[in-house]
Amino acid sequence: MTGVTVVDHPLVARHLSVLRDKATPSSDFRRRLSDISMLLLFEALRDLRVREDAIETPLETTGGMRLADEIVVIAILRAGLGMTDGALRLIPEARVGHLGLYRDEESLQPVGYYESIPRHAADAEVVVVDPMLATGGSAVSALDRLKRDVAGRLRFVCLVAAPEGLAAVREHHPDVPVFCAAIDRELDERGYIRPGLGDAGDRIFGTE
Ligand code: PRP
Ligand code: URA
Repeated sequence: MTGVTVVDHPLVARHLSVLRDKATPSSDFRRRLSDISMLLLFEALRDLRVREDAIETPLETTGGMRLADEIVVIAILRAGLGMTDGALRLIPEARVGHLGLYRDEESLQPVGYYESIPRHAADAEVVVVDPMLATGGSAVSALDRLKRDVAGRLRFVCLVAAPEGLAAVREHHPDVPVFCAAIDRELDERGYIRPGLGDAGDRIFGTE
């Protein structure tokens, strides 16, 4: 699908397998999610713009580089919190914003309850993170919100995507590239991704 990159790497596949396993406890789930997030963001940020910069080594001056743009990571709560630690290990200077959204269990529509978005992010590279892209309602709502007030160059990074969620993001935000570790088979009648990994927020925080 145009604009969708499935990050194809044995380490990503291994981390994802452990995350899918229902026997993986929350402590391991959090660590694996942090590690796989680094790998996914590494790929998602491959085309960051850079600026040349002279560097003084202990011996001489040489050509170096710096990132041309500020990076802003926006985590969709709660489960996106599980990806911010990995994002910050990769890009320690990034600023982090939060959008609180939960899915209504009946309608599956996203309900907003909190937001904290870094100011002056209009020229930044903005990476929205959430492990699960199911119906796509939460992702589309988050991207709508960010386009309204923040702008910047947006990308969406998730772990597992359902075909329905990808189609929704492509339809509403065709300009936003999506990166994931896997595209799963389908959504079930309760809006869960199959085979999926269950409720990501519950597995991160042990709230099952
Ligand atoms: C999960 C997940 C996404 C959303 C995906 O969050 O983290 O935000 O569902 O579903 P969608 O594509 O159909 O919108 P949830 O609503 O369970 O909240 P939580 O992260 O607080 O558990
Ligand atoms: N949210 C989750 O955490 N898991 C799913 O399978 C779907 C939505």
